Amino acid sequence: MRFEVNGESVELEVSPDTPLLWVLRDHLGLTGTKFGCGVGQCGACTVHLNGRATRSCLMPAAALEGATVRTIEDLAPHPLVDAWVAAGVPQCGYCQSGQLMAAAALLEANARPTRADIEQWMTNLCRCGTYDRIRGAIADAALKLPEPPPPEEAPPEAPTDAVNDAEGGE
Ligand code: FES
Ligand code: FES
Repeated sequence: MRFEVNGESVELEVSPDTPLLWVLRDHLGLTGTKFGCGVGQCGACTVHLNGRATRSCLMPAAALEGATVRTIEDLAPHPLVDAWVAAGVPQCGYCQSGQLMAAAALLEANARPTRADIEQWMTNLCRCGTYDRIRGAIADAALKLPEPPPPEEAPPEAPTDAVNDAEGGE
């Protein structure tokens, strides 16, 4: 199968049911992505697949043909990494690459998340309980990103009288 990892084209022959996590770690040597639970619950294995945060332990290689994968090895430089360092977020560090990739996907989808948005999005687990620092670092990093463009203005609605005139109303 052919796909792209961190901007590089990759061609591999692996069993279609091999999880993406092991494709990355065992076949490509990208060991920044971690194994935690293996059943999609902890988020330690989070990468971006076609731009979406994805738990790579559950994603079979069969889904990779033509796909684009981004891993922690390709994240820096990024305001999240600076915010992580400034806040001293990691404790043991094991969950942190997954946390960062989940956070990066959030900021790509929503450059100005509220605390509630962050809380709802960040479902990755941390056995060391670094949750407060993670959430604070995401909020700090968001402030370093360019302002998102304002939403497009809807065309002005026709005044009621004009509608009535057009329809022959009074
Ligand atoms: S190792 Fe993939 S979600 Fe836990
Ligand atoms: S920093 Fe140790 S598990 Fe998250």
